[in-house]
Amino acid sequence: QEKLILDVDTGIDDALGIMLAVKSGHFDILGITTVCGNVSLEAATENTCKILDLLGTEHIPVVRGASKPLMRRPHYEHRVHGEDGLGGALRDVTAQTRPAEGFAPDFIIEQAARFKGEVTLVMTGPLTNLALAVMKHPGLVSEVKRVIFMGGVVRNMGNVTPTAEFNAYADPEAMKIVVHAGFPSLTMVGLDVTRQALLTDKHIQMLGNTPIARYVRESTALYMRRYYERNGVQACALHDPLAVGVALNSSLVSTKKFYVDVETKSELCDGKTICDFQNRLGNPANVDVCLEVDSRKFLQMFTEVLQS
Ligand code: BDR
Ligand code: CA
Repeated sequence: QEKLILDVDTGIDDALGIMLAVKSGHFDILGITTVCGNVSLEAATENTCKILDLLGTEHIPVVRGASKPLMRRPHYEHRVHGEDGLGGALRDVTAQTRPAEGFAPDFIIEQAARFKGEVTLVMTGPLTNLALAVMKHPGLVSEVKRVIFMGGVVRNMGNVTPTAEFNAYADPEAMKIVVHAGFPSLTMVGLDVTRQALLTDKHIQMLGNTPIARYVRESTALYMRRYYERNGVQACALHDPLAVGVALNSSLVSTKKFYVDVETKSELCDGKTICDFQNRLGNPANVDVCLEVDSRKFLQMFTEVLQS
């Protein structure tokens, strides 16, 4: 089993990413760390605990992290994820799982030092916790095995502003720190590929009528409605689950290493991720950018794992 820390701002699709990670059985999940993003830190933490209850796991620590971006005010996404962040699906439930003591950036540092070279980090929210961790302990970059993050977009439009993806937009300074930190293996799972990982009613039907299937159906209803309003397609993008999918099976995507930077000082383009495809700046490549995805294979993996 591969050691994993999942960093989330739970969020409808973060929740589905957690489910994929836990139910795959592939990972020894050292902890799930939470961050302010789609919803407040407290709501993201509560939602994470509710999902672990639903999955029936009692041993995975949930560790709170940053309650705001490094330098900005929080930018929540209630329009997409609902008031509670899970599309209302577990609104009337109180989580039984309780968060553990500790602070996410310190937890990441401790676990990476404890299991040197073994820990995979999958980040599906703004990168505040990881940025705080590398600022406190720059040696972290050579202690983790690899980092896979959902965020950014390099060949396409944004989903918050015309140019920026949400996780990049919510804390661009943090993403900038992470891409320049010097991680030997840093994979960006951006909108370029996640927009192709579309969950439809057909997939949801394949999940059957288990509590998990019912949860998925209920929590994605609003998410699908928003997607339909914008794209005219009855579906929703599995952004965060695809980052987990890449950790499970890297052959789902094809990647190429480029120099990537993040805009932080622009009136219109804050949070834009810039990929230097032609190496015009002459800087060394720092990010493995996902360019193509086998979405059929990914959706098959996703539905099989959630059925099991
Ligand atoms: C990302 O933004 C959030 O709203 C989702 O949870 C996902 O992590 C997609 O841009
Ligand atoms: Ca997320």
